[in-house]
Amino acid sequence: MRKQVIAGNWKMYKTQAEALAYLQGLLPQLTDTPDEREVILCVPFTDLAVMSQNLHGGLVRLGAQNVHWEVEGAFTGEVSAPMLVELSVSYVVIGHSERRQYFGETDDTVNLRMRAAQEAGLTPILCVGETKQQRDAGQTEAVILHQLKIGLDGVDQTRLVIAYEPIWAIGTGETCDSKEANRVIETIRQQLSYGDVPIQYGGSVKPGNIDEIMAQPQIDGVLVGGASLEPQSFGRIVNFQTA
Ligand code: 13P
Repeated sequence: MRKQVIAGNWKMYKTQAEALAYLQGLLPQLTDTPDEREVILCVPFTDLAVMSQNLHGGLVRLGAQNVHWEVEGAFTGEVSAPMLVELSVSYVVIGHSERRQYFGETDDTVNLRMRAAQEAGLTPILCVGETKQQRDAGQTEAVILHQLKIGLDGVDQTRLVIAYEPIWAIGTGETCDSKEANRVIETIRQQLSYGDVPIQYGGSVKPGNIDEIMAQPQIDGVLVGGASLEPQSFGRIVNFQTA
C-alpha cells in the first residue's frame, strides 16, 4: 500500500523562536492523527537543530529544503547530506521550482542531489511541474517526463517521494483542478518502475480544498507552502477527512 505523505514547506519563513511557537500550536492537534499518515515539516536550515530537539520521538518528521551533492568541500553557502543526517533530518526537498527558477537548478544538478541524498540515507522529495506557458502549449506531459527521466537516473525508487507542483498554481491561490492533478499524477506513476512511490500534489493547497484533493485515488499526499505556516491551518490539512 502507498504511504500518505503530508509535508509543509516553510520556504524562507520562521526564526527558531517562531518555529518553537509553531510547534506548540501544531503538536496538540496531532494526537488523533492516524499513524499511517507521514507528517513532515521542511524548514530553513537554521531551524533544523531546534526542531530536531523538539520533535524527537514524535509523529512529525523533519525535512530540509535543499542539499548539496558533495559530502564536504569548498562550496560556500552549501549544506551536505551528512550534515542534515546529523540533525535527524529524514527528508529533503529537491528541485523545487523556486530553486530551478531563481537559483539555476537544472535537471542534472537535481539528479546529483537526489543521489547524494539517498547515499546518506535521506529520502528525497523530487519536485516536478510545468509553467503556465508550457501547459498552454500542450507540453505538460513532455516537460514532466523529461524532469523525471533525468532527475531519477540511477535513483532508488523505493526510497523516494515525488511532488507534482504545477508552477502556475504555487502561491497563486489558483489550485489545479483535483481531477487534472490526479490525471497528471497517474501519468507520472506510469513512468516509474516502482508503483508504490508516494506522489504528492502541491500548489495552493488549503484547509478548504484538502479533502477533495486527498479523495483523488492517485494523490498520496500534499506539499504545502503558505498554508503550512500557520499551525491551525496545517493541522487541518494533516487531519484531512476521508469520505
Ligand atoms: P503554496 O502552497 O504556497 O502554493 O506553495 C506550494 C509549494 O511550493 C510547496 O512546495
